[in-house]
Amino acid sequence: MMSNNEHSEIISHVRSLVKDAKKIVFFTGAGISRESGIPTFRGEEGLWKKYDPTKLASFSGFISEPELVWEFFYSRQRLICQANYNEGHKAIAVLEANRPGVCSVLTQNIDRLHQRAGSKDVVELHGNIFGVICMECGFEERLDHLDFFTRFSESSIPKCSICDNIMKPSVVLFEESLPANEWQKAMYLSGNCDLMFIVGSSLNVSPANTLPYYALRNKATLIEVNPNETEMTYLMNYSFRGSAAEYLPILLT
Ligand code: APR
Repeated sequence: MMSNNEHSEIISHVRSLVKDAKKIVFFTGAGISRESGIPTFRGEEGLWKKYDPTKLASFSGFISEPELVWEFFYSRQRLICQANYNEGHKAIAVLEANRPGVCSVLTQNIDRLHQRAGSKDVVELHGNIFGVICMECGFEERLDHLDFFTRFSESSIPKCSICDNIMKPSVVLFEESLPANEWQKAMYLSGNCDLMFIVGSSLNVSPANTLPYYALRNKATLIEVNPNETEMTYLMNYSFRGSAAEYLPILLT
């Protein structure tokens, strides 16, 4: 167990790393939105404890029961519409604004709370819950939380305005690959940063969970912010066992 003195020394060391860094990547997962009231997927109160992801968040599940999957996504969209970003999202956005060209966010989250907090350089590895894409012609509509429910109603599945076929959420479902452009950019940014914060991710899901290795290959310092250990904690230079909303304002300002 670390003494308070050691803890505050490490905090000031990490703050100096932030100050001197040329390129900082924030790799984020569901945990950073936990304090905005959005449930995580794994862990005690995780979504996958209550629901079966193969039925509700997989491509084959969508093909067999699109209504069920849209019911699940509509409920998550409603929750996200009522949520707001928290101090963790805000701290990243403020640092990006104060250090133009230094910070990038690679998020597994589909809730757009980083953007709502003001982050501009955000790579959505798993898509955007308020986007829809046609299963037939590929036509895509990129909406946001303010206009989704004026464009579509929960009483039916979204239909394509070009060919009238059903649309799926513009998110990466299990069995789907990540969008190529976003993945390319994520590999490049991870492989060229000197500091990577891994915030609120269990690092369970590939290929997103390989990004810390790209940073390590570039001799980057890895900093984990998570109340719990993860399978990759052993790789981290520093781990802060607490919430994103608590630690990011301390470490980044
Ligand atoms: N602050 C920081 N981290 C937190 C907080 C918090 N307040 N609360 C929980 N956590 C941590 C948990 O300890 C856990 O390690 O956030 C992590 C959430 O892990 P997951 O629920 O597995 O979320 P994530 O890593 O983003 O999942 C990756 O899996 O189901 C798919 O597509 C989905 O993008 C998601 C992917």
